Amino acid sequence: MAESDEKRPKVRLETRLLTRLAHGGRDDALCGPFVNPPVVHASTVLFDSVDAMRPGGQRYSYGRRGTPTTEALEMAMSELEGAAGTVLCPSGLGAISTALLALLSSGDHLLMADNVYDPSRHVATTVLARLGVETTFFDPRIGGGIAALIRPNTRVVYVESPGSLTFEIADIPAIAAAAHAAGALVVTDNTWATPYYCPTLALGADVTLLAATKYIGGHSDIMLGTISATEAVFGRIHDAHGALGLCVGPDDIYLGLRGLRTLGVRLAHHQRSGLAVARHLEGRAEVARVLHPALSGHPDHALWKRDMSGASGLFGVVLDGWSREKTSAFLEALELFSLGYSWGGFESLAIPTHMHRTATTWAAEGPLIRLHVGLEDTEDLVADLDAAFARVGNLA
Ligand SMILES: Cc1ncc(COP(=O)(O)O)c(C=O)c1O
Repeated sequence: MAESDEKRPKVRLETRLLTRLAHGGRDDALCGPFVNPPVVHASTVLFDSVDAMRPGGQRYSYGRRGTPTTEALEMAMSELEGAAGTVLCPSGLGAISTALLALLSSGDHLLMADNVYDPSRHVATTVLARLGVETTFFDPRIGGGIAALIRPNTRVVYVESPGSLTFEIADIPAIAAAAHAAGALVVTDNTWATPYYCPTLALGADVTLLAATKYIGGHSDIMLGTISATEAVFGRIHDAHGALGLCVGPDDIYLGLRGLRTLGVRLAHHQRSGLAVARHLEGRAEVARVLHPALSGHPDHALWKRDMSGASGLFGVVLDGWSREKTSAFLEALELFSLGYSWGGFESLAIPTHMHRTATTWAAEGPLIRLHVGLEDTEDLVADLDAAFARVGNLA
């Protein structure tokens, strides 16, 4: 397909990240004279000739196989990730299951960090187990010690860093070195830091995925996942994604691309405000611990500093010896923080969290809640938390 390949926009990796966010995936071949690509609603694509209908005979062949809208976001994500290619999935969880199905076969062994998003664990213990893939969960702080768990049939080591409930940072370079020495691949869920703050492919991962539902979309109005991979692995991801028939509606892709343009400036606010709120909570007597890797007291702070250039707005708070009832009353007393799963949008959220671990134990001084600090004014958020503490102060 040399002819049409020449017209494809080229991935630009020479620019810095804010520039890639603003320019990624923008190309005359996709957008014409417009700043943004068209939102192409398509199933059928028409051909000029029978010859053009042969595989690869024309740039676009069928809605499910890609449109200018799809390509614009894929290109922009590949530029941001420094990846050979990107595929889009209908949700973050869809990206997780697709990546694992692409890389694992019956008889293979998967190593998965014990702190992952619970539905990731569920994919491993249900669908993958049924297909004959065995999973061992490991301590997220294992680092190079992962070598001792690698078996001859280990094909993938899967990490989420930081874990989105307990916020341990994985030593991705050490894990990748051990995995690669044994011929295994590393897959990272990088939803928290995004490639803007943590280039997991450059740290040694082979495949990196995002729940783009969160910070990429940024407005709590889409479900979207991305999988990006190195040259050596992308073909397998692309083939499995195609075989599974995955595609995303053009309006959601467009909103994902629109969100991506402002990712850097939004993350800077999430980081600044999140840290200010976290520091304030550290100073409150009711709080036993704040789990935020950018705080100097966090056990993985040095790793965070080495591998990440920033922090997003999601972190955990351990309430000192509180009852479940008092915790619920506190969460319900908040007015600017709403109760809701998910995160990464412009709005602040709070949830109670429940840990599911099998390889490690997670001990805390009291119940753990998770806060997402959105784009509201920081002082208003601090005042909201303080008011909720005051309201539940006398409860047991
Ligand atoms: C770390 C992490 N990965 C993946 C997902 C799944 O994303 P989605 O909700 O888009 O399926 C989530 C959702 O909360 C998440 O927190």
